[in-house]
Amino acid sequence: MEPPARTNRPSDPPHAEPGAASSRERGARVIAFGGGKGGVGKTFLAANLAASIAELGLTVAAIDTDLEGANLHTWLGVPSPRVSLAEFVSGRESDPAKLLLETAVPGVSLIAATHGHLDSAQPTGARRVALLKGLRRLPADVVVVDCGAGAHRAVVDYFLAGDDCVLVVHPEPTSVENAYGFLRAAFYRRMQVAMLDRAVRDRIREAMDQRNERGIRTPLDLLREVQALDAEEGRRFVEAMRAFQPRIVVNEVQTAEDVKLGFAVRSVCRKYFGVEAEYAGYVNRDDAVRSAVLGRRPVVKAHPRSDAAIYLRRIAQKLAEPVLDGRGPP
Ligand SMILES: Nc1ncnc2c1ncn2[C@@H]1O[C@H](COP(=O)(O)OP(=O)(O)OP(=O)(O)O)[C@@H](O)[C@H]1O
Ligand SMILES: [Mg+2]
Repeated sequence: MEPPARTNRPSDPPHAEPGAASSRERGARVIAFGGGKGGVGKTFLAANLAASIAELGLTVAAIDTDLEGANLHTWLGVPSPRVSLAEFVSGRESDPAKLLLETAVPGVSLIAATHGHLDSAQPTGARRVALLKGLRRLPADVVVVDCGAGAHRAVVDYFLAGDDCVLVVHPEPTSVENAYGFLRAAFYRRMQVAMLDRAVRDRIREAMDQRNERGIRTPLDLLREVQALDAEEGRRFVEAMRAFQPRIVVNEVQTAEDVKLGFAVRSVCRKYFGVEAEYAGYVNRDDAVRSAVLGRRPVVKAHPRSDAAIYLRRIAQKLAEPVLDGRGPP
């Protein structure tokens, strides 16, 4: 089904409906990596898929939004970034494009996230909206967004800025638990942003509290509440639900059982959230990864024939497809 046409009001965060317009019309295609849990491979995937997508002939701008635990620069061979997103947060620079640095990886530029202010790590309100809007205007075919751990508002907003929102899951119960929590936060935020009526938006805010007094426990409970409040908003809710199509990547796979996790997450998305997620692929746990990061290089460059590199290239091909298709024959 086609995603809904929607009118952005000035107060709305700039989350575009995925697929609402061609990537060419809208500027760069944004691919965000999140997952809730720390250490599951979000940065590893962001760096290596940036490098792999660049190998397909596209230009890539990678942005590290993890101001408290930045390390995307290390994967991309930039030992001490001279400028970073912290310049934008502090107001010293208002154009994110001016913060782009060259990296050691051909075709990939970087907005690093070092030198943050310990007391105010993330840009607040309007500055974050400006940053998210600016992503699409960065001079690149594809923008890769590395999200930090956790599910607080800033992280979720960075994740939802993606045309592709890639949920990174590690085959361990702790990661799966955090991934569902993260997806839940992203889902409610996404729905809140899509609604136009204040009372409905307030109801969604209430539902975000898992122990809310209205007894809203699942997204389908919430849908019923929204429909009761306003039929038109109910329809918009269903459309926004259908347009939200996260992609799943399972990282550090070691067994056939681990591979199946992607399908299990996909069916939970369908049953619990009413959301169609796509299993975009998995990456093996591979010793080549450690050796690559010790050399401050993406594994696809340091060990291009490793298992990890092969799986990463498959995922890159899938993620880059809409941009490659939009370009037509050379
Ligand atoms: N497929 C893999 N095989 C082997 N090691 C891996 C693989 N993926 C990631 N790692 C290693 O796991 C560690 C954590 O990865 P990474 O820093 O990308 O996680 P993260 O999700 O970005 O964490 P954080 O939330 O703290 O930012 C790194 O040392 C990385 O090299
Ligand atoms: Mg990280």
